[in-house]
Amino acid sequence: MSHSRPFDEDLYRTLANSSQAGVYILQDGKFQFANPHIQEYAGYAEKAMLGMDSISLIHPVDRMSARRNAVRMLKGQRFSPYEFRIITSDGRTKWILETVTSISYRGRRAVLGNSMNITEQKEARNRLEELEALESSILDAIPHAVIGLHNRIFNFANNAVKAVFGWRPEELIGKSVRLLYRRDEDYEEIARLFYTALEKQRTFSTKFPCRRRDGVDILCMVRASRIGETLRERRIVVTYEDITERTQAERELEASREELRNLSVHQQTVREEERTRIAREIHDELGQSLTALKMDLSWLKNRLPPALKPLHLKARQMEQLADTTIEAVRRISTELRPGLLDDLGLAAAIEWQAEDFQNRSGIACEARLEAGEMELHRDLATALFRIFQETLTNIARHAAASRVGVLLDRDGERIILTVTDNGRGITKKQIDDGQSFGIIGMRERAHLWGGDLRISGSRGEGTTVRVSIPMRQPAPGSREEGQR
Ligand SMILES: Nc1ncnc2c1ncn2[C@@H]1O[C@H](COP(=O)(O)OP(=O)(O)OP(=O)(O)O)[C@@H](O)[C@H]1O
Ligand SMILES: [Mg+2]
Repeated sequence: MSHSRPFDEDLYRTLANSSQAGVYILQDGKFQFANPHIQEYAGYAEKAMLGMDSISLIHPVDRMSARRNAVRMLKGQRFSPYEFRIITSDGRTKWILETVTSISYRGRRAVLGNSMNITEQKEARNRLEELEALESSILDAIPHAVIGLHNRIFNFANNAVKAVFGWRPEELIGKSVRLLYRRDEDYEEIARLFYTALEKQRTFSTKFPCRRRDGVDILCMVRASRIGETLRERRIVVTYEDITERTQAERELEASREELRNLSVHQQTVREEERTRIAREIHDELGQSLTALKMDLSWLKNRLPPALKPLHLKARQMEQLADTTIEAVRRISTELRPGLLDDLGLAAAIEWQAEDFQNRSGIACEARLEAGEMELHRDLATALFRIFQETLTNIARHAAASRVGVLLDRDGERIILTVTDNGRGITKKQIDDGQSFGIIGMRERAHLWGGDLRISGSRGEGTTVRVSIPMRQPAPGSREEGQR
């Protein structure tokens, strides 16, 4: 359609000057007219524009297509609005959207252009595209499957859905999220969970069984967040983390921990039994023979002729030796396992141990026994007693204390043993040191019985060790064994 329209220049000029769009007229490629809007976005005064080669305004990259468009237009071929860039007078790039028409101007063929500065929209769109690209690269960097749902239909899926579920992202779009679950009931259940939770809160997570495309069942940590302030149109984002292996590993770890605990309990029981047996044998066998020997000695001494002084002297020395040996046997057997603990119980054993400690170390040791009557499992009593012994040993070895206070008490169903000294004070570092095997051993003993051990020290003021253990419970790991 090659035609030229009559052109009322005055009318057009008036309209063009007040237009919010750009209006210009080109003849032989040069501006004959450019309205204020164009002057403004291009940055040139009217004077400078008139006669200017229009192509010189166009960004070099877009010149080719601009020329092509001009030729097509002159040939009368239709084309829709097109975008191109210009370089403004101060060197900036701006985006322009333009349509052109062929007209007759002052008796000759000319081009009438209508243009619009779309730089801002264009930049906003570019920023949005960048953001979207960034967003999807972030989503694809996440190792968990991330999907977007709209009324339970996939409208988005990241690349990781392939690794987690075996689906390619594009295969899911438009389908129901039912695909990721084992059966309808599961699918209904999780939908109910999500939609009820997300009515009230932004996010919700749960472990849930899922199914891969190849039919393999996996356990996932599923986290859902609603999009927006409310759960409108059930738009949510859900992530799936395959925790099948981790859960398995955790179970195995827990099982082996349990085994270790049982083994530890078993070993301690065996050791205590062994000690008890040796203590009893030393006490009974050696003790009795030695007492018999001592009685024989005094029988012999009484029958020695009074004149034989050196023999009497020897006999007295032998008697003394027998006495100290009997004493040593008694001490060794009590150290192995105080009979008191079995015969009179924990409180008596602690009282005795405190007194013994005071006599031997010269450190004043006062025990307050306020727990009253209690029936403790034999092994629990042993555990507490051994912890007590270790605290005393540590005080003797490290504390440089002059006074120790012991309190055996109870708090409801818990038995509590507190040992305080006024020595140099243990440091945080020493408490947490992985090499503090004495402390680790005490803590482990308390843990085996579901209790805990707390140690605190303050420099120059002393150290407190506090063990707290529930009283009534079966022996850990070895119910029957403990009862023997
Ligand atoms: N009552 C205390 N006062 C001051 N320091 C203490 C006290 N008890 C423990 N410590 C510090 O804590 C450290 C760790 O104690 P732990 O019983 O674990 O080890 P240890 O007594 O050195 O060796 P062992 O393994 O023979 O018990 C000690 O070396 C000591 O420095
Ligand atoms: Mg120690």
